[in-house]
Amino acid sequence: MSTLALKYRPLMLNDLVGQEVSVQALANILKRAKDKGSIHQAYLFAGLRGTGKTSTARIMAKALNCDIGPTPNPCGECPSCLASLSPDGHLDIVEIDAASRSSVEDARNLREQVQTLPAFSRYRIYIIDEVHMLSKQAFDALLKMLEEPPSHTIFILATTEIDRVPDTIKSRVQIFPFRLIPVPLIDERLQLISTKELFRLTHDSSRLIAETSDGSMRDALTTLDRIIASSNTTEISEESVRLQLGVVPKATMLEISESLIRSDTKHLIILIDALSQLGIDWIVFWKELVVNFQNRLYSEIKSDATPQVILKWARILQILVSRERDIKESSLPKVIIEITLITISKLPNLAPLEALLSPSFNPQTSPDVRDKTKVSHTTMPDHDKGLDQLLKMTDGTIK
Ligand SMILES: Nc1ncnc2c1ncn2[C@@H]1O[C@H](COP(=O)(O)OP(=O)(O)O)[C@@H](O)[C@H]1O
Ligand SMILES: [Mg+2]
Ligand SMILES: [Zn+2]
Repeated sequence: MSTLALKYRPLMLNDLVGQEVSVQALANILKRAKDKGSIHQAYLFAGLRGTGKTSTARIMAKALNCDIGPTPNPCGECPSCLASLSPDGHLDIVEIDAASRSSVEDARNLREQVQTLPAFSRYRIYIIDEVHMLSKQAFDALLKMLEEPPSHTIFILATTEIDRVPDTIKSRVQIFPFRLIPVPLIDERLQLISTKELFRLTHDSSRLIAETSDGSMRDALTTLDRIIASSNTTEISEESVRLQLGVVPKATMLEISESLIRSDTKHLIILIDALSQLGIDWIVFWKELVVNFQNRLYSEIKSDATPQVILKWARILQILVSRERDIKESSLPKVIIEITLITISKLPNLAPLEALLSPSFNPQTSPDVRDKTKVSHTTMPDHDKGLDQLLKMTDGTIK
């Protein structure tokens, strides 16, 4: 794992970002365990990569075994807490990577191991990562253990693919969802970490990294690592982030929007060609385009535009969004992008698209665009029909 991701691995439940619901529920479980002296013995953390499952499993293990625990706030000083600082350093916390331990023999070993009493702690805790990778035999063995776990044993399972975990297992564990981390929270954490690392990350840079991380904090930190490593100053600009991420340069992005507005299909094709020479990431490009149009739609709604205008923007956005999956899955993403952009550029009366080029655009104060907006208001019914037809047409031919 990248240096920053390791260095900033959460050590307490409160350090986790964006997982409030699961974190709160786990904290309550720990408190109740202390009061009642008993605890459920099997948990399953499910969610996409880099959202905090392994970190939380380790935090739970520490919290369960702390001398003053079980507690949501382990002391950090007792022999158990100190041992859990180094991975593999704790005799009573056993981490198993299911991907590399899925044989029949491994299942048998595990069954024998589980009978072992804790060396010096309250519980012997088994963290089984990527549990969906276990073999059929290993799942059977695990099921037996979950049915009658020795009283000193706790299982914490984690998976990125909960659908591949058998229902029999799922019905015996408490399941905690780990959700995708929202962009603003990743953004905030990137800012916090770069300040600690004495790097200045412009706001646009951290936002861009957050947006391209697909809700994974680990992916965001790995990207930041790479960018810092390749930078020779302590100030990280948006352009250098774009370069590293294979994201379309801002100027080209603007030019593409401009060509869309002017229905300049020829130039659009030239620009897309140039991008393919640069080897940019098409998915990232598409996401940015979607975000641009989304912002435009929001600003229309905020400024109380007519329903027709709002609908028009929503429909363009709909076309863009509906193609994302095709682009991801196609072996010819560029072709899909070209067809879609050509279609949009030919949609009637795209004048208000100019707004995309100017973040400070305000339909109430911009006379040039206001006039064009008016035109689109008054003539909307016809255009609406045209749009409908175009949408039907594109749905039929591209999907
Ligand atoms: N929710 C989160 N809050 C803060 N940092 C996180 C979070 N999720 C992941 N990270 C960062 O990503 C790294 C990897 O997280 P990890 O817990 O191994 O994710 P997972 O097991 O879900 O793939 C951590 O060391 C940490 O730096
Ligand atoms: Mg993990
Ligand atoms: Zn402790």
